[in-house]
Amino acid sequence: MTIRHLLLGHVLQFSGNPFTMPWDSAVHILENSALLIEGTQILAVGEAARTAAGPDAQIHDHTGQLILPGFVDAHAHYPQTAMIASWGKRLIDWLNTYTFPEEIRLGDPAYANAIANRYLDLVLDHGTTSVASFCTIHPGSVDALFEGAEQRGMAVVAGKICMDRNAPDALQDTAQTAYDDSKALLTRWHGTGRAIYAVTPRFSPTSTPEQLHALGALWAEHPDALMQTHLSEQVDEIVWVQELYPDARDYLDTYEATGLMGARGIYGHAIHLTPREIDRLREVGAAVVHCPTSNTFIGSGLFDLMGLAKAGQVVGLATDTGGGSSFSMLRTMAAAYEIAQLRGEAVHAAQLLWLATAGSAAALHRGDEIGTLAPGLAADICVLDLASTPAIAQRAHEAAHVWDAVFPTIMMGDDRAVASVWVNGQPLRGGN
Ligand code: GUN
Ligand code: ZN
Repeated sequence: MTIRHLLLGHVLQFSGNPFTMPWDSAVHILENSALLIEGTQILAVGEAARTAAGPDAQIHDHTGQLILPGFVDAHAHYPQTAMIASWGKRLIDWLNTYTFPEEIRLGDPAYANAIANRYLDLVLDHGTTSVASFCTIHPGSVDALFEGAEQRGMAVVAGKICMDRNAPDALQDTAQTAYDDSKALLTRWHGTGRAIYAVTPRFSPTSTPEQLHALGALWAEHPDALMQTHLSEQVDEIVWVQELYPDARDYLDTYEATGLMGARGIYGHAIHLTPREIDRLREVGAAVVHCPTSNTFIGSGLFDLMGLAKAGQVVGLATDTGGGSSFSMLRTMAAAYEIAQLRGEAVHAAQLLWLATAGSAAALHRGDEIGTLAPGLAADICVLDLASTPAIAQRAHEAAHVWDAVFPTIMMGDDRAVASVWVNGQPLRGGN
């Protein structure tokens, strides 16, 4: 008989989107409750979990801790792991100075493997169980990430970056090879185990219109694949896009005109949007991804989380490692809170936790598999210690209610707060 695991603790539950309905109707914490895992899935939650557990279930006592879905990082660059926190540049010179030289190194498959495994171990340490990552232009960099994810049982979205201009020669493909290599990778990986392929033009400035068209054609041939790219991150970048694409109505139009706009499109950053772009993204049902530590670190701007999410825009949350300065979705939630404060809005802890799990899962079109603790979904779980350091513990001790005890860990927590991590029903960290 398959072993059942009963996790005891406070359990985070979602019944809706806390940006489009009152947060306390959408998000609940079942205090001193339980969650039951059988095989790779969640079997039951709450009192039903205790009832269904039976006498043979293995008990994992996390009393006082928070059991939540594993974090879902909706936009990252695993190849940038070794150059995270590089000093003093803004987007375009940051790419040229630090990013491209490091990405060239991933042309060596052994190095790509080492970085992919290092990255996946780091994100697991931080309680992240799924990522959507850009790879490099090298097909081997995609194999490295999907193989590493497969070994760990992780549900990962990834794709080969495509660039045929404005990048070093060693990082350029062509319209045709971008199409051919992406197609081969998509055929090899998309839907294999828990792997999902995303067609991945880096961003409009590093692709010719011909390359964007070729990738648009590939996506049209495989409409169930995802498409990930960047949109309107910095003002200088937008001016450059206007120069490179004089006929485009705006930045989004460079994708729209080339078949790279759709409900399964995932657009990172999306900070400086025009009213047309805002309307179009929402009408189409495309996702935008908020990358707050990156937006402060590279100096990009203040994403309008509340404005967009309340209007029904699909929004995910992400580290954007290594433009982002952290692997931690706790740190990322804290930065999202701070950016909203600078815009005069207070995001509730319930909204932040939803964004980092169910919100990001929805952005990746994987909400029926990950991002929520419900029967039948994958047992991808993170357990947070709400008193992981003396500084946090003394604050949590004063908490008047459970949300007051959770918020200090969001604002001050790091990988020390991650008590255990389960992926596909397996305890990969902690798990007492
Ligand atoms: N725009 C194009 N490429 C990148 C990248 O690697 N990181 C970030 N933050 N923005 C980009
Ligand atoms: Zn990015």
